[in-house]
Amino acid sequence: MLNDFITLGIETSCDETAMALLRGDREILAHALFSQIALHERFGGVVPEVASRAHLEKSFPLLEAVFSQAGIVPRQVDAVAATHAPGLIGCLLVGTTLAKSLALAWNKPYIGVNHIEGHIHAAFLDHPELTYPFLCLTISGGHTAIYHVTGLGQYTLLGQTVDDAAGEVLDKIARLIGLGYPGGPIIDRLATLGNPKAFAFSRSHVKRGPAYMSFSGLKTAARRLWETEIAATQAPGIPLSTCGRGAGERGQTMHDFIASFQHAVIDELLAKLAVVVRDYPNEAVVFSGGVSVNSYLRALAKSRLSMPLYFSSPRYCTDNAAMIAYVGRQYVKRGQTTPLAVAPQARAVL
Ligand code: KG4
Ligand code: ZN
Repeated sequence: MLNDFITLGIETSCDETAMALLRGDREILAHALFSQIALHERFGGVVPEVASRAHLEKSFPLLEAVFSQAGIVPRQVDAVAATHAPGLIGCLLVGTTLAKSLALAWNKPYIGVNHIEGHIHAAFLDHPELTYPFLCLTISGGHTAIYHVTGLGQYTLLGQTVDDAAGEVLDKIARLIGLGYPGGPIIDRLATLGNPKAFAFSRSHVKRGPAYMSFSGLKTAARRLWETEIAATQAPGIPLSTCGRGAGERGQTMHDFIASFQHAVIDELLAKLAVVVRDYPNEAVVFSGGVSVNSYLRALAKSRLSMPLYFSSPRYCTDNAAMIAYVGRQYVKRGQTTPLAVAPQARAVL
């Protein structure tokens, strides 16, 4: 029975160990995740070796957790999908090796899924009405790109960052000013207390094309502004991430800086999206990846764009295994599975 088909999804490409059990196309029977944020926080970023070990340690408890959440047994699984590219190679090896071993033991098909393809399709989980074709702005800690998506496996790259990813630049500036890791959600929260127009940052001009983005100039400008004008005004010893309303004039300057910097990042994304939208006026726009959780992005996109916009619930924006199970399921339906000999790849294009 097609609707009873159960796919186990496994995601271990970076710092989240995630598993999900999907029935049919969209029914999530179980969704579990172990976030490694606490392990990497003191380093200010993901340490690959630490991440791989944590995936190994957490994989089996998570596997048990999803089966108990779903109330099913392993022999009911029909296919196993795992992220096999791109990502940290040690991390990908843990997830794909587990997925292949399970597929072999259960005598079920294995599907290696591209992580970005997962993010692009995550919106289908919350929005059954979504259909191809659509434009997709994929914005995460490792990727920032705009695709024209015309079907499963059919992606035309229309623009992308030529240097840092949007999430990466948010995380780096958050780290510079001592906000903690990952910086994106903290910036999102603190920016609501500041004025996004207080400091002006200039927009990038990327020669490669009008929909190509750059964040490195912005990062340098923000760092310079912070070091020369803002940092000196901050009270020593106060953890900035705890500054809230009533932080005084100095706290206000910091909040203005954060709000203005966030505005510059989001404005760069939406300006380049606007270029693409002119060529595809009838397409809906899907937002995917961790940065698409950002509340300022969501509000500004809704105020600037008039076509249907699809945002997912936060659990499907950030790294998760439901999106991997979904894509795996779609390939199985087409009779496309992955030979067990196919190795994961740290770098891969769609
Ligand atoms: O998609 P994701 O979970 O992992 C990657 O594939 O990279 O994205 C993680 C990124 C991080 O850079 C994080 O700071 C950012 O998404 N992020 C946010 C928010 N939530 C997560 N950025 C801005 N606002 C948020 N609310
Ligand atoms: Zn991701």
